[in-house]
Amino acid sequence: MNLTLYVWRQKGPQDAGRLVRYDAQDISPDMSFLEMLDVVNQELIGRNEEPIAFDSDCREGICGTCGQVVNGVPHGPRERTTTCQLHMRNFKDGDTLYIEPWRARAFPVIKDLVVDRGSLDRIIQAGGYISAHTGGVPDGNAVLIPKDEADTAMDAAECIGCGACVAACPNGSAMLFTSAKVAHLAALPQGRAEAARRVCMMTEEMLGQGFGNCSNHYACEAACPKGISVRFIAKLNREFLKASLR
Ligand code: SF4
Ligand code: FES
Repeated sequence: MNLTLYVWRQKGPQDAGRLVRYDAQDISPDMSFLEMLDVVNQELIGRNEEPIAFDSDCREGICGTCGQVVNGVPHGPRERTTTCQLHMRNFKDGDTLYIEPWRARAFPVIKDLVVDRGSLDRIIQAGGYISAHTGGVPDGNAVLIPKDEADTAMDAAECIGCGACVAACPNGSAMLFTSAKVAHLAALPQGRAEAARRVCMMTEEMLGQGFGNCSNHYACEAACPKGISVRFIAKLNREFLKASLR
């Protein structure tokens, strides 16, 4: 496949940045999107030009490190798929692709396609943990948890912290991410002890980090590679209301 790429190049946080045209040639449909960028980077390095900076780690769709906006869609056109798991067979020979970083006030661009997602880490630091001693594996298994509650916790725990929900939201809201973390721990008995404090602390931190409010567009759910449901936002709101009444 031969493709025309317009890639966001930005030397650093203070640089204005711009889209730069590149030709990606002889790309295998079986390559992942990141492997396609690796090929483009090899050519740039061969020409003594600066390679395109982008984030990746596991390349298996589980770590949440990768993330690019492809033709205006966070993680690209395939539903429930991270950029690293997006294969070039999802595009056509001759396509033109616009590749940009996550765009949100709380995610400043560091370089090219790399953004600082430390704001999500700070939400976790504010309350995304438990202090109960859970003991070893046998102790953990001694606490019986109803199946539907365990399923809810596992569904919420699927969030990989990629930030696509924020990039997709017209308000740059981190409600889906925060709600997944709050719901995950609130669904389990080990997490209930601190549930009220947790939801207040994480919500306050979320607002302090410059994320916007949820505006019910549901763009977050549509962009989420793990299918995190907006029903967790409703759960976050209920947890917050309960904590406020106390
Ligand atoms: S809720 Fe989905 S889109 Fe948002 S950070 Fe978690 S996995 Fe990524
Ligand atoms: S690199 Fe780990 S999810 Fe994409």
